[in-house]
Amino acid sequence: MSEDLNKVQLITARYGEKDRPENILWNSQIEGLLNHRSVRNFSQQALPEYWFETLVAAAQSASTSSNLQQWSMVAVTDPALRAQVRKLSAGDKGLANGYIEEAPAILLWVADLSRNHDMTVSDGLTPGVHDYLDSFVMATVDAALASQNATVAAESIGLGTVYIGATRNKAKELAELIQLPAHSYVVCGLVVGWPAADSDAAIRPRLPQSVVAHHNLYSACDLDAHVRSYEEAFHAFREGLGMKDKTWKQAVQGAATSLAYMDGRQNLRATLEERGFGFK
Ligand SMILES: Cc1cc2nc3c(=O)[nH]c(=O)nc-3n(C[C@H](O)[C@H](O)[C@H](O)COP(=O)(O)O)c2cc1C
Repeated sequence: MSEDLNKVQLITARYGEKDRPENILWNSQIEGLLNHRSVRNFSQQALPEYWFETLVAAAQSASTSSNLQQWSMVAVTDPALRAQVRKLSAGDKGLANGYIEEAPAILLWVADLSRNHDMTVSDGLTPGVHDYLDSFVMATVDAALASQNATVAAESIGLGTVYIGATRNKAKELAELIQLPAHSYVVCGLVVGWPAADSDAAIRPRLPQSVVAHHNLYSACDLDAHVRSYEEAFHAFREGLGMKDKTWKQAVQGAATSLAYMDGRQNLRATLEERGFGFK
C-alpha cells in the first residue's frame, strides 16, 4: 500500500514539519494507527479467507455502552446490491463514491436498538428509555467504535478502507434496501478491499495537537495562527496528490454553509423518527 515510513516520517506526515510533537511512545500498534490513510482505489483481488470473522471479532471487541451491544453490521458483497448502495450514496451528480462498486465489500454499520427493544416488548415491558436522545447516541457511538476497530484490524492485515458517510444521504431508502428492522439505521459505511497497486492513498495531515487536545481545562488557543500553520501542511498534502488548491478553511466553511454538501442528510432526523428513534 505504501512505502515503509519510519517513526519520524510518520509523525511528520501527520502534522507537518512545524507542528509535529517532538516524540511519542512507539510500538507496532501505534505505528499502525499513525499509518492510517483512507484508500479510494482498489484492486479486484478477493478478500482473504476469514476476513469477515476477523473484522467482526475486532469490532465486537470494542467497548460498548453498558454491554448493551446496540449495533449491527451488514456486509454488502453482492455486486448488484453494492451498485444500489453506491447509487444511494453517489451524491447529486451521481458520480461520488465509485469505490463502493470497485471494492469487494462495503460494511454498513448500524446503530441498532431493535434487538433490545424487541426483547423488552416481548415480555410485556415498555422500552421507554429508547424514546430518548441518549439511546440514539449510545447506539450510534457503539456502531462507530465497532467500525473503527474493524478498520484498524483491516489495515493491520494490509487491507484498505474508506468510510462512507454518504450512506446517510438516502438513509430511508438504504434501510429499506438492506431490510433493516425498526429502531435501527446505518450510521456509516466502510469500503474494504486491497488497495490498487497504483493507489495514491497518503497520510492526511491533522491540526496541531494543541488545537484539539487540552490539559484539565478547555483552553482556546490562537486558532487563526494554528490554522494558518496547518494550511501549510494541508496545502503540501493536496499539492503532492495533484488535487486542486483549496484551503482547509474553505473546506470547513463549505461544509458549514452549503446545504448541497448535506446531499439529503437534511432529512435524517425525519427518517430516524419514522424508523422509531426518539429525541426526547
Ligand atoms: C464517518 C465518516 C464518513 C466519511 N464519509 C466519506 C465519504 O462519504 N466519502 C469519502 O470519500 N470519504 C469519506 N470519509 C473519509 C474522510 O474524508 C477521511 O477520513 C478524511 O478526509 C481524513 O482522511 P484520512 O482518513 O485519509 O486520514 C468519511 C470519514 C468518516 C470518519
